[in-house]
Amino acid sequence: MKNITVNTFREHKQTGEKLTMITCYDYTTAKLVDQSGIDSILVGDSLGMTMLGYDDTLSVTLDDMIHHSAAVARGAKHPLIICDMPFMTYSTGTRDAVMAAGRLIQEGHAHAVKLEGGTEVQEEIKAIVAAKIPVCAHIGLTPQSVNTFGGFKVQGKDQATVDKLLADAKAVEEAGAFAVVMECVPAPLAKKITDMLTIPTIGIGAGVDCDGQVLVYQDMLGMFGDFVPKFVKQFAHIGEAMVKGFKDYDDAVKNKTFPTKEHEFTMDTTLLEEK
Ligand code: KIV
Repeated sequence: MKNITVNTFREHKQTGEKLTMITCYDYTTAKLVDQSGIDSILVGDSLGMTMLGYDDTLSVTLDDMIHHSAAVARGAKHPLIICDMPFMTYSTGTRDAVMAAGRLIQEGHAHAVKLEGGTEVQEEIKAIVAAKIPVCAHIGLTPQSVNTFGGFKVQGKDQATVDKLLADAKAVEEAGAFAVVMECVPAPLAKKITDMLTIPTIGIGAGVDCDGQVLVYQDMLGMFGDFVPKFVKQFAHIGEAMVKGFKDYDDAVKNKTFPTKEHEFTMDTTLLEEK
């Protein structure tokens, strides 16, 4: 299996071959993703919800991201690993942004970072790219802006947000991003942006015409039932299989059908004889 780099992303934009991305936050899952042929792993700050049980991504820290990214990097050897820059790590100036991105690469062993926003983060993207760190942008529904949007809302439904998305897409490309995630963007607008850009677009709730797709792995494996977004397809029902496995284990222990002889260690039982 070949190692995926930012060059692979550029090549696929040229050839039209679709790119795949999946979130991942731990070593065991990273090893499984590594065997699948998926092109890239996003260590997303969605881990705030899926792994840590927060209501949104705002409480996720840089140290959280480094911790999870390093675990993923130990397990996945082939995909391009992109790590999210969490809330408040790139909005206080370009120096802070570069320092935070640098930690995700040096300590989190990611290959690239992702940050949310368009025109307003152009300078941060330029500065991080100048520090030789590839940047994936993220426009549309940007979850770190949940309080500004007044909820998790599809973007690009009125003229103002259509114009903003077109401007954002151009801005991140000009700033040097190697790819852009588009979240919850109406499919015709996502197609227009994809046709307009020379960098690949990775859609999540943005239709089939994006250059690639990303999904949260717990969503697409049917593991996270709290809320299933409209754009998610469940490709497996691992949650049900896990609950069944947990129940069977619980029953087996309580019925004394587990452990059996095959799970035991033997010893010289004369050692137990009374002296
Ligand atoms: O954090 C994340 O998982 C993301 C995806 C939803 C694109 O940013």
